[in-house]
Amino acid sequence: MDIRATDTPLLEWTGDGLVIGLFEDAVELTGELATLDEKLAGSIKELITEEEFKGKQGSSVFTRVGANSPVRKIILVGLGKPEALKLDGLRRAAATAARLAKKQKSKTLGISLPIWNNDPTQTAQAIAEGVQLALYQDNRFKSEPEDKGPQVETVDLLGLAGQEAAITRGNQIAAGVFLARQLVAAPANSLTPITMAETAQQIASDHGLQIEILEQEDCEKLGMGAFLGVAKASELPPKFIHLTYKPEGTPKRKLAIVGKGLTFDSGGLNIKGAGSGIETMKIDMGGAAATLGAAKAIGQLKPDVEVHFISAVTENMISGRAMHPGDILTASNGKTIEVNNTDAEGRLTLADALVFTEKLGVDAIIDLATLTGACVIALGDDIAGLFSPDDALAKQVEKAAEASGEKFWRLPMEEKYFEGLKSGIADMKNTGPRPGGSITAALFLKQFVKETPWAHLDIAGPVWTEKENGYNGSGATGFGVRTLVNWVLSDS
Ligand code: BES
Ligand code: MN
Ligand code: ZN
Repeated sequence: MDIRATDTPLLEWTGDGLVIGLFEDAVELTGELATLDEKLAGSIKELITEEEFKGKQGSSVFTRVGANSPVRKIILVGLGKPEALKLDGLRRAAATAARLAKKQKSKTLGISLPIWNNDPTQTAQAIAEGVQLALYQDNRFKSEPEDKGPQVETVDLLGLAGQEAAITRGNQIAAGVFLARQLVAAPANSLTPITMAETAQQIASDHGLQIEILEQEDCEKLGMGAFLGVAKASELPPKFIHLTYKPEGTPKRKLAIVGKGLTFDSGGLNIKGAGSGIETMKIDMGGAAATLGAAKAIGQLKPDVEVHFISAVTENMISGRAMHPGDILTASNGKTIEVNNTDAEGRLTLADALVFTEKLGVDAIIDLATLTGACVIALGDDIAGLFSPDDALAKQVEKAAEASGEKFWRLPMEEKYFEGLKSGIADMKNTGPRPGGSITAALFLKQFVKETPWAHLDIAGPVWTEKENGYNGSGATGFGVRTLVNWVLSDS
């Protein structure tokens, strides 16, 4: 699919589907739109009246226009109240329109949406992202593709001439999101620590990143007892992935992104029971998927920032070699952990990944993890938890998230709750009481970051969606990639 910036006026555009965005309670046609309506024999006005279209955010209607018309279908999308329009509103409107156009078998699409905040660049990028993300289809595991038939081939962004670079950026970010979605959607018999490492190799060779894969023996030498404790029961070798993007010249900043990479989480000997969602636990590498998705996007966007992408990848399985509940593990910073629950495995793998990362001497670290069911209980399926002892970094993440349309809510790192992790025999236990479970998980991770500004994103809810939602189809969302990319590209 080709998304193009065009200077073709609205009145002269010809093609299969013309998308027009209208604000709420401002659907009377004036100016260019009135002229277009006349040209189309009043069909826009008729559509608005007949469908009682009010321009409500998320609403859409369409109609076929006369056979000899230069435009075959008109698609109207509601934008809500003008003062409430956010950049993400345009991304969603573009997504709604693109989905509808695809259902209507439109091959050529023209999109006319208002420019947000006098910023044609951000507008063009957001629309490109919305169209791409909405039209994504994953047929890898189907013997027959479900979306045979005409596809959207060209999309013209009207009124956005000269915004080619912004569209390219949108496409590159979407490619990162697609990779994250594919990785999360792939089942555990297809996506393993080995294939995950191969994917990282591929990103490195496609986009010129440096790569280092630490094998089990390398991790042993570094004393990564927490990560290796989790990996012990698996028949598959663990892989510790470290990708590095280095810009030409001196980088403005050095950053690191760390993702939880459990290609499957059975719970270990504290095995997940019936009703626990064990059959969905292929998604437990959603943090690593966002990390690699961001690496793919950053490798193409080429900012003046050095970025390290890290994941300790393994499965959490059961076998005669499995760690026992009650085992004491020693992490690579020397701290000892009493494993009172083998299902709290993500924090064990992240502990060694964070220690490794801090030694790189970066300016800031963000980790992403499908870490706790407790976070889903607290914030629901659409909102990720944001934890950070560093207010400035937390603000940076919130700002990056705002432009991306991904939702985060900051939760407190209440030090007092660390008491719940006190162990009588080791430095700490890996789980505390059920209340505040996502907070104690964050406090556990904090034990493995000494002084580098650090934020932890608990993405257990938003990595996956059951129902179609905005630019996400049902299934893997690729959550996190867009916020990470915005964070890396931001000046602060
Ligand atoms: N991978 C899970 C968390 C999870 C739950 C992700 C639901 C996505 C959806 C994690 O490893 C886990 O099992 N956490 C336990 C922690 C508990 C044992 C303290 C949980 O949340 O129940
Ligand atoms: Mn678990
Ligand atoms: Zn897990």
